[in-house]
Amino acid sequence: MSKIVVEKSPPLKGTVRVSGAKNSALPILAASLLGTEDIVLEDVPSLRDVDVICEVLSSLGAEVERYEGGKIKINSANLNKHETPYELMSKMRASFLVMGPLLTRLGKAKTSLPGGCAIGTRPIDLHLKGFKALGAEIDVDHGYVAAYGDKLVGDRIYLDFPSVGATENIMMAAVLAEGETVIDNAAMEPEIVDLANFLSKLGADIKGAGTSSIRINGVEKLGGAHHSVIPDRIEAGTYMVASAITGGDIIVENVITSHIKPVIAKLRETGCEIWENGDKVRVIGKDSRNAVDIKTLPYPGFPTDMQAQFMSLMSISKGTSVIIETVFENRFMHVDELKRMGADIKIDGRSAIVQGVDSLTGAQVKATDLRAGAALILAGLIADGQTIIDHVYHIDRGYDGIEKKLTKLGAKIYRIE
Ligand code: EPZ
Repeated sequence: MSKIVVEKSPPLKGTVRVSGAKNSALPILAASLLGTEDIVLEDVPSLRDVDVICEVLSSLGAEVERYEGGKIKINSANLNKHETPYELMSKMRASFLVMGPLLTRLGKAKTSLPGGCAIGTRPIDLHLKGFKALGAEIDVDHGYVAAYGDKLVGDRIYLDFPSVGATENIMMAAVLAEGETVIDNAAMEPEIVDLANFLSKLGADIKGAGTSSIRINGVEKLGGAHHSVIPDRIEAGTYMVASAITGGDIIVENVITSHIKPVIAKLRETGCEIWENGDKVRVIGKDSRNAVDIKTLPYPGFPTDMQAQFMSLMSISKGTSVIIETVFENRFMHVDELKRMGADIKIDGRSAIVQGVDSLTGAQVKATDLRAGAALILAGLIADGQTIIDHVYHIDRGYDGIEKKLTKLGAKIYRIE
């Protein structure tokens, strides 16, 4: 089991390039099951989660070839299975995104119920509500979910919560259904738009992605496509906070700044200087930071995936900040770990009250989910002494080469077995 060691580092300096978005690559790889001709994806990040979903695709009969530099070629012309192996499903919740494509392409799909994880129970009721509305029979039994429906028929579906995964799964199921499907209260994340763009290249007829109402007209068949995955807005935000927390001066490259407006706004409120120039963002951190309040919300609100990283920054701000997590019911697992480093944080329901302290101290801590892991790395950069982070497999799931990229910026970070 490897661990990551972080030592107190100087202010970060230099340039870092953001990789392709994990939360765009995963649904797009699942959607590749819908194509009947060659698909070429570029800028796919090199992550464990990408490895897992590629294994899932291969286990279903798709041909998957991976090349250097983030290029993957897929051909799903001859799918020969509709059931995903339990051991792969249990590794990653996002594997559940193959349900929609398999159901609409093969008329049946069977996969294990996605496990919960540290940040919450992660239900799938909205995914299943959508599949049922399209006419599928759903059978949940012995930890498995099976869906059957020879010919799905479009319908109007209202999502009680703008779930990213449910929006993606239903959109993928609807592209080959008969007639029109409308998803109301749909998620509006940039990754939804990227998936819709990819599906349209395959030949799907989708309108309104990125708004709260998405209209899909079913087509007979989908072909092939060449598509580049959008940059990872959460990875970008994480490096921006790394500059803010160390009082550094870095340039983050390959950023779509319109995707991270809330993060830029909040960092500016803490006192950071942020310069935007095309796909580059320069972040100049200060020696002292104002305490600011944040409330996580579905896009375009402040992203829940940046909450833990921001909490690390607020741990050493001047004053008290209130962090409210409205998206997941249990996304404060990093609080206890930060407290081991000397942070002063109290949880009250969905709110965390962070009292800024002058400094943190290095400690042995563990990553409880991938963003919590990133938050502990950020805290370790400014904590006195050494921070040793365990369970780093969480970090490897979502960050492409984080030690290399931080080392290049002057951070003292390395991995030990
Ligand atoms: C996606 O997860 C992301 N993962 C998450 O990123 C991200 O935090 C989340 O969206 C919110 O932005 C991928 O895209 C692979 P949701 P997803 O369905 O789709 C409730 C990361 O760190 N809900 O939008 O699972 C659910 O309980 C990961 O990269 C239902 O109630 O998130 C949660 O409270 C973590 N019923 C809320 O919606 C459902 O059927 C948001 O979940 C589905 C969800």
